[in-house]
Parts: sequence; C-alpha cells; structure tokens
Amino acid sequence: MKIGILTSGGDAPGMNAAIRAVVKSANYNNIEVFGIKYGYKGLIKEELMKLDSLGVDGIAEKGGTILKTARCLEFMEEDGRRKALKTLRNFEIDSVVVIGGDGSFQGAEKLSKLGVKVIGLPGTIDNDLAYTDYCIGFDTTLNTVLECIGKIKDTDSSHEKTTIVEVMGRYCGDLALYSALAGGGEIISTPERKLEFHTICNKLAENISKGKNDNVIIITERMYDIEELQKYIEERLKISIRNTVLGFIQRGGSPSAFDRVLASKMGVKAVELLMEGFAGRAVGIKDNKIIDVNFSEVNNKNTDKQKEYDLLKFLL
Ligand code: ADP
Ligand code: F6P
Repeated sequence: MKIGILTSGGDAPGMNAAIRAVVKSANYNNIEVFGIKYGYKGLIKEELMKLDSLGVDGIAEKGGTILKTARCLEFMEEDGRRKALKTLRNFEIDSVVVIGGDGSFQGAEKLSKLGVKVIGLPGTIDNDLAYTDYCIGFDTTLNTVLECIGKIKDTDSSHEKTTIVEVMGRYCGDLALYSALAGGGEIISTPERKLEFHTICNKLAENISKGKNDNVIIITERMYDIEELQKYIEERLKISIRNTVLGFIQRGGSPSAFDRVLASKMGVKAVELLMEGFAGRAVGIKDNKIIDVNFSEVNNKNTDKQKEYDLLKFLL
C-alpha cells in the first residue's frame, strides 16, 4: 500500500496535526506516504512530495496546511479526475486521505468510484458536516471568535455601544451558535434560526430598555448586508452602533489542544481503516467516539441543534 494525502477547500487549523498523524502511523506500519500539494489541483498537475515521520515533526502546532490547499474546478470534470487517476498510477499510489469539507468529500467520493481507496477527514471551520459532531478546525476558530468578541465587548461596555459581529460558517450557524452559548453575544441570527431585521431591532430595544446598553449581535455571514442592518437599527432606534466583520482572522492560528487531539485520533483511524481494507469512508466523532461512515451518508445538511438553541433562552 502507498498513501497519498491532500488538503482541499478552505484551510482549517488542525489540518497539519492530521497530516502528521497519518504520516507517522503509516510509517510506523512501514507504509510510504506522499503529500499532494494544492488539493486536487496537485493531483492533476503531479505536484507531490514524499513525507516521512521526521519531516512532519513539529507541524501539529502550526495553523494552515503545509501541503497548501486550493479549490480546483478541473477536478469537478470527469476529464480532470482521469488526469488525477493517471498521476496516482504514475506514483503507484493506491490510497488517498482527503482532508477537507463537504465539497472535498464530494470529490473524494467520485475518486473512490474510480477504484481509488479513499478516506475523508473532516477539516473545516464551518462545522457543516452533519455526520460528525465536530470537524477539525471548528474549536480553534470558535476560540478565536470568542477572543475577538471579548475585545469588542471591552470597548463596547466602556462606551455603552452595540456591535454587530459577522462570523464565518458559510451556510452553517454553528460558529455563531456556540459563540453565543459561550457568552459571546446577546442576540444571534443564523441560517438555521434567521431573524428578520425588525426582530433583531425589537430584541435590542428590549435589552436597552432593561438597562443593557452594550450588546453584541452575532450574525452568520452571507445572510444580510451588515451595513444595511446597522443602518436599519440606527434609524429605527435613533442610536449609533458599530459593525465588525471578523473575516479571515478566523481561519488562522495555532490549533487548540482539542483540534490537535481530534485530528491526531482521526489521522490514526484513517490509516487503520485502510490497513483493514476499508475505503470510501469518512471519519468523524459522535458522542465522543471516533466513527466512520460511508461517503454516501455524508451531507452538509445541518443536524438539528434544537437542544443547543433551546439553551439560548436561558442565556441570552
Ligand atoms: P470544502 O471542501 O471546504 O467544502 P469546496 O466546496 O470549495 O470546499 O470544495 C473543494 C474542492 O473539492 C473543489 O474546489 C473541487 O476541486 C472539489 N469538489 C467540490 N465539489 C465537487 C464535486 N461535486 N465533484 C468533484 N469535486 C468536487
Ligand atoms: O469553508 C471555510 C470558509 O472560511 C467559510 O467560512 C467561508 O465562507 C469560505 O471558506 C471563504 O472562502 P474563500 O477562502 O474561498 O474566500
């Protein structure tokens, strides 16, 4: 067996810890590993490099991905995937570990249908893969968001101001939801529980009437134009408020201990599965147990977070 490993889609803190775990456990079992650069693009363009245990020492603490990542349109076409297959044959690689999100997993499933043994590891800050409780990177990003909001709160409380904070998540509200659960905001709106402008405004007015003059309104990206929302609130309530889009700061940084451990457990599991002859599967964590499911069971529909949303009524 020879393993290829790639990171694809948006980078996520902890991807390096997963690479380290795959390389170390494969080498322990005398299996060679090749790193494929730039996700599926590197597979098409033959950009590979040999990885070994010594070479991946010390990378677990680094954010981003040493293999680089990319979005690759060519791989969406059959012709692109055929080229990828040719590269794998040239390097005599029969197994591939794909670290990425929902899109990368769709690519992984297609690659596995071409006869390649593929295992997926969920690496995305969005936490938008429903088969797993946590994706690699989510915890680190959540901590970054909370640190940033904490700083915003310091100045908000000093000036008795309100700030709308836009967080990432693509179409998934987990970063906003968990930030609010952890005390990061007073009002939240997510794709799963979207609030209209007037509802946000009424909640804010209610808070202010109770004497809570500094509020953080957390919103998931891609839902509204943040400046329009700010203007709406300012005009309706005759107050001046602030807005902050946290942006790409959320994707960087040294991974949290949680993400490093999660990535390490998942990386070792990927090699274990391949050695046992399993393929076409995605590794996850459910109820604190490492699990694996068929690619066909992976989707980005959000699991119902009703229990978590219910808690907000006590906390906000
Ligand atoms: P993520 O994996 O973070 O969700 P993307 O959705 O951008 O990120 O997907 C990453 C890459 O995975 C794409 O650029 C493409 O190369 C590949 N990919 C995504 N969707 C498909 C698909 N339906 N078929 C084949 N490859 C896909
Ligand atoms: O999927 C991770 C993510 O950071 C999303 O939260 C965000 O919407 C998207 O990637 C941004 O993508 P890009 O790096 O292509 O701008």
